[in-house]
Amino acid sequence: MNSKTSIISKEATERQLSFCDKINAFWVGQCITPKAYVETYGCQQNEADSERIRGMLAQCGYAMTDNAEGADVVVMNTCAIREHAEQRVFGNLGALTHVKRRHPRQKIFLCGCMAGQEHVVERIKKSYPHVDGVFSTHHLWQFPELLDRVLSVGKRTYFVEDEAGSIVEGLPQLRDNTLKAWVSIMYGCNNFCTYCIVPYVRGRERSRKSADILEECRKLIENGTKEITLLGQNVNSYGKDLEEGIDFSDLLRMIAEIPGDFLIRFMTSHPRDAGKKLFDTMAASDKIAKQLHLPFQSGSSRVLKAMNRHYDREKYLELVDYAKSVMPGLVLTSDVIVGFPGETEEEFEETISLIEKVRYDALFTFIFSPRAGTPAAKMEDPTPKEEKNRRFDRLCAVQNAISEQIHEDYIGKTMRCLIDGTDKELLTARTEGGRLVRLAGNPNLVGNFADITITGSTTWSLTGELAIKE
Ligand code: SAH
Ligand code: SF4
Ligand code: F3S
Repeated sequence: MNSKTSIISKEATERQLSFCDKINAFWVGQCITPKAYVETYGCQQNEADSERIRGMLAQCGYAMTDNAEGADVVVMNTCAIREHAEQRVFGNLGALTHVKRRHPRQKIFLCGCMAGQEHVVERIKKSYPHVDGVFSTHHLWQFPELLDRVLSVGKRTYFVEDEAGSIVEGLPQLRDNTLKAWVSIMYGCNNFCTYCIVPYVRGRERSRKSADILEECRKLIENGTKEITLLGQNVNSYGKDLEEGIDFSDLLRMIAEIPGDFLIRFMTSHPRDAGKKLFDTMAASDKIAKQLHLPFQSGSSRVLKAMNRHYDREKYLELVDYAKSVMPGLVLTSDVIVGFPGETEEEFEETISLIEKVRYDALFTFIFSPRAGTPAAKMEDPTPKEEKNRRFDRLCAVQNAISEQIHEDYIGKTMRCLIDGTDKELLTARTEGGRLVRLAGNPNLVGNFADITITGSTTWSLTGELAIKE
């Protein structure tokens, strides 16, 4: 275990649960069932954190609602990855002034990655007086205590001190979806890519003990979960801070050995730490989805160096070649940044050529957004905004054409998919590689794996029909 990681004791967690009991008693005493609304921005890690926040609120007696209007507690779980994400939060937070005026006992909290930045906390203190409490990701587990203080003392409260990071087990959790579940296997990041704010707001890498992860997975599967997505900013460095002597591939294999019919996915893999052992482990198990999200960020080795990514174009392409050779049907997705400071036209063209070479099923494309406190924010950036937009549009056009062609090739194939929901009159399902399929069928099929024949495609999704009619 990383020497700076603190393990939150059982007693400390139980103390938080006693605040839940106290808050619950407060509402019961008033014969009120209070309502809570949790709004989530950002990545799956935040989605998973919101499930904990809802779990704690439920333990305090709150019923969840899907609207801030009339809610007794509003929690904004925020993302700081790009400026646009932050602007959305500030806009929506501003709008809550009116909502709170109509329901004066409403308490408003801001948490998540934005709450880990000093300048954001200062701005909230100064310009958003209707916010009652702020807590950073390090203090998420202390939310019951913060809520109790706000309710009983009535003063604005901040739990935002920076910390190396902790591991907390045993917090209540209210999952959005039990058919498909998120399981965090580690927290934080040590990579310090020069553009990225995450290591500053989520602290250093720390892994949960494998026994705790396995126990959580086992319970989920026993209760009917069919798809588990393992979460971490860089799952490939799982276990490096533990003394268990196991790595991410070992963990995957151990989860796959749990009896039951289910599929394991994971994200995100950093190309620096992904390798043959991981791909061989994936190839060897039917329970591990043949899907890989392997962000490359740029096709230029010079830019990758400036990003502090610790791999170059050649190493990345070698990895992909190996992964495809052992998993022929592999669905590959990635993240890419356009307009990193100093990126030249030629370097951008290297990104385009990498995409054309790899042929991703889908790409998440971003324009570089300077983040205060990161090295890249101070780098010279002579490329005008219009030029970055042009590169971005070209990148999207190239990728969309590839996605469309790849999807067309699905037509006529029959594949085992998990039917996971409904969309208007249709059922939705996911292929093993995670591609969305829409099909007609009885809603009582939701929750089952079924063979689906693909009959049509667009850039972003597929249509199909049940191979064996109901
Ligand atoms: N841990 C993951 C990524 C988490 S952030 C990984 O390393 O792959 C998700 C994506 O946001 C990143 O992969 C990157 O493409 C993008 N991103 C991060 N910081 C950004 C910034 N400052 N500007 C634009 N895009 C950024
Ligand atoms: Fe950010 Fe890099 Fe860590 Fe991913 S690996 S979270 S991009 S610093
Ligand atoms: Fe955003 Fe934090 Fe995730 S910055 S992308 S919510 S780790």
